[in-house]
Formats: sequence, C-alpha cells, structure tokens
Amino acid sequence: METFQAVRTLLAVREYQDKPVPDEVILKVLEAGRLTGSSRNRQAWHFVVVRERETLRQIAQHAITGRYLDKAPLVIAILAPRTGQGPVDSGRAGQDLALVAGEMGVGSVFVTNVDTPEIRRLLAVPDDLVVQAMLPLGYPVKKLGRGRKQRKALSEIAHRERFGVPWA
Ligand SMILES: Cc1cc2nc3c(=O)[nH]c(=O)nc-3n(C[C@H](O)[C@H](O)[C@H](O)COP(=O)(O)O)c2cc1C
Repeated sequence: METFQAVRTLLAVREYQDKPVPDEVILKVLEAGRLTGSSRNRQAWHFVVVRERETLRQIAQHAITGRYLDKAPLVIAILAPRTGQGPVDSGRAGQDLALVAGEMGVGSVFVTNVDTPEIRRLLAVPDDLVVQAMLPLGYPVKKLGRGRKQRKALSEIAHRERFGVPWA
C-alpha cells in the first residue's frame, strides 16, 4: 500500500478475527520498529510481544482504555525510557509498526494508560522503562482501508509563517 494511501485510509482497529498472525508478519512489524529513527539514534525502546491468552486477559483487565486488548491474537507493548525523548521515540516506532502491519492487512490501534503496576509486573518491565503504549494486532473484522476518517480541516490546523494565518 502506498504510504499516503495508508495514512489516508487506515483506521483504528479494535475488533479482530479469530485468526493467528504468522511469525513472519510479526517479524516484519518488529523490524519496522527496529529501523525507526530515534533521538540521538539511541534506540532505547523495547518491544514485548505478548500472545499468551492468560497474560492478555489480565492486561485487558488493567487497561482502562483498552479492555478489548485480549480480543487480539497478540499485543506488542512498547517500552521506552522514563527520561528524554521516550514518548516521541516510541510514538514514532508505534506508527511504523502500525503502518507496516496495515500494509500486510493486519489492523492495530494505539492503546495508552497501560503503565500500571499490574501490567508492569506481568511484563517484568525494568524500573527505568515505561510502558508507553500497547498495539493489539490482528486481522480486522471489517475490511481495512474502507473507513472514513473524521479529522479537522487543514485550515484549522495548518498555518502560514505564523500561528493564526491559515495555510489554506
Ligand atoms: C497517543 C494515542 C493514544 C491513544 N490511546 C488510545 C487508547 O488508550 N485506547 C483506544 O482505544 N484508542 C486509543 N487511541 C486511538 C485513537 O482513539 C484513534 O487513533 C483516534 O480516535 C482516531 O481513530 P481513527 O484513525 O480510526 O479515525 C490512541 C491514539 C493515539 C495516537
């Protein structure tokens, strides 16, 4: 899928088919994360792939904005340092994971509010890292790339030379 087409059409996917995601697909998604650029090229992120059903069930219980996480065949937790550019770096990596997954027909969504003590314990997260986000991955119930995005008009968010002068 061409990049702009992917950005234009891929929606958040929260319902998944009961169908496993092959290892080679997961590997390519992880490669996308590995290859992402990061602040000072520190690459301080870690990606934890979770497929055990019981672990996913417990994660979903503690993910207040991601109760559906255990409906996915797998979840990738993105861990990043507490300090520095961790949130920006992991956001970029997460976007690359999602785009490459989408290219292979696998749906995903960013889930945040997941750095809870229970989830940290389940994933054995070291003290210096934060669970920045989780990406459930799975083949979507609804066909990918068919949704309509609800976004602000460009005139509301793009400015010419200085804030307040609309780009268009
Ligand atoms: C930083 C960030 C945090 C998000 N956190 C959650 C979340 O905790 N739970 C959830 O279901 N969706 C979460 N989302 C998904 C957004 O709700 C979704 O991207 C937005 O509603 C646009 O959806 P659409 O692309 O399908 O139009 C998050 C997205 C981003 C970028």
